[in-house]
Amino acid sequence: MKTKDTGMDPANLPCSFSRRNFIKYSSMAMAASAMPGVITGCAGLKPRQDCLSQLAQTGTRHKDTVFSPARIGSIQTRNRILRSATTLGLAEKDGRPKNELIDAYVELCEGGVGAIITGAMGVQKNGRFGSTSTFLFHQDDYIPDYRRVTDQVHAHNTPIIAQIAHGGRQTRRAVTGEATVAPSPITDPYYNEETPRELTELEIREIIQNFISTIERAQKAGFDGVQLHAAHGYLLSGFLSPATNERTDQWGGSTENRFRIIREIFQGARKKVGNYPILIKISAYDHQSDGLRVPESIQIAAMLQEAGCDAIEVSCGMAVDGFSTLRVPEIPTEAVLAFSFRYKDSNPVVKTLLPVFAPMIVNRHEPLFNYNVCAAQEIKKQVSIPVIAVGGIRTLPDIEQIIGNNMADLVAMSRPFIIEPDIVNKFKTESRQDSSCINCGFCLLAIEQGETRCFYGEV
Ligand SMILES: Cc1cc2nc3c(=O)[nH]c(=O)nc-3n(C[C@H](O)[C@H](O)[C@H](O)COP(=O)(O)O)c2cc1C
Repeated sequence: MKTKDTGMDPANLPCSFSRRNFIKYSSMAMAASAMPGVITGCAGLKPRQDCLSQLAQTGTRHKDTVFSPARIGSIQTRNRILRSATTLGLAEKDGRPKNELIDAYVELCEGGVGAIITGAMGVQKNGRFGSTSTFLFHQDDYIPDYRRVTDQVHAHNTPIIAQIAHGGRQTRRAVTGEATVAPSPITDPYYNEETPRELTELEIREIIQNFISTIERAQKAGFDGVQLHAAHGYLLSGFLSPATNERTDQWGGSTENRFRIIREIFQGARKKVGNYPILIKISAYDHQSDGLRVPESIQIAAMLQEAGCDAIEVSCGMAVDGFSTLRVPEIPTEAVLAFSFRYKDSNPVVKTLLPVFAPMIVNRHEPLFNYNVCAAQEIKKQVSIPVIAVGGIRTLPDIEQIIGNNMADLVAMSRPFIIEPDIVNKFKTESRQDSSCINCGFCLLAIEQGETRCFYGEV
């Protein structure tokens, strides 16, 4: 197996256990949740990520900066702590937002969030994320539904950014009714329990157009901007990664070719929406063998800036690869057995063996905290647009370090807002220095159970 430079750590080794063994657990992960899966990949693939531990603890406070506004294009955030895109399970079957979504967002606004990035919204039906509780925004007649949401959020003086996405090879026929699609056919079931089919040139053109139309719709619905979801192995991320893009035409091969679909979305959108803020979320390293690594992501960041991108949120991993994007202290087999539609009704033998064997053959990614800050910092050195770090950010002192030492312009968090929607106010008043989140990951695994909530490690 070939290896590539991670740019972060020379110890970028291929997995030492059989990838085929791992398939079973990745499939299990996909079954448990069409969002990021359950079981993580090989520890050998992990880059060195926790830059904060390398910083001298000077005791300098940067609290004022953390709670000062930032600019992302025409958006002025209330402070530097954003709610990262999080699917809250509050979409109707047809993908429209439920009324309860407004309550959830108002709670975040009242809790002091700097800006809200919505959960992923499918730009077309067959790109809908793996659960029927995820948003769609593929039709103009959805505009009034989302307008109700943005009006309420704006009434609380908070910006709201629509994350728009196509799930690509991480969609499921059970949800979309259609075969999954990918840049190119991936026959290895490691990637998906349903082998995706290759996109035609015409389909790629349609997807580009659908992204552009959805950006126009978001603007009409009052969103302050959009974020292209180009992270975690979904379609745009699938194009960017050399591990999943095997095309030999103009959409694959060189960095420029793998980036082409994103460039064309920006070019087309800019003609329609002018300077309307368009952000992006990328996986700066995807943990795949021969996949995307930070040095190439730095090049991509420069290309994004040149294409007219307004801000880059730096994440990592691929959803099918389990807990690399979103880290957990231990493999939550209990939650898999409770929530996965595939495993919750499985026979008693499987139920008994899974908790015993899963931790033995499946490694977790570490560290748990601040794991994309180092990549964000490297990217930030190369671009002048704002860079947002996400992933395991949990404490006010860490945020002060990240912002104060110019490692990122803003931070984003997901799970801390699920357990404490008012975490930002708590940080501001210093009634808390850290999040109560225990990183169990159960919230994600239960994504198909209805409204997203904190389980605090208990089923
Ligand atoms: C319940 C849940 C739903 C999520 N939904 C999305 C999503 O729709 N889009 C996205 O880009 N990331 C999504 N994520 C990932 C988060 O945005 C974030 O990148 C990841 O959880 C790491 O941040 P954290 O450690 O602060 O949770 C989700 C995470 C959770 C826990």
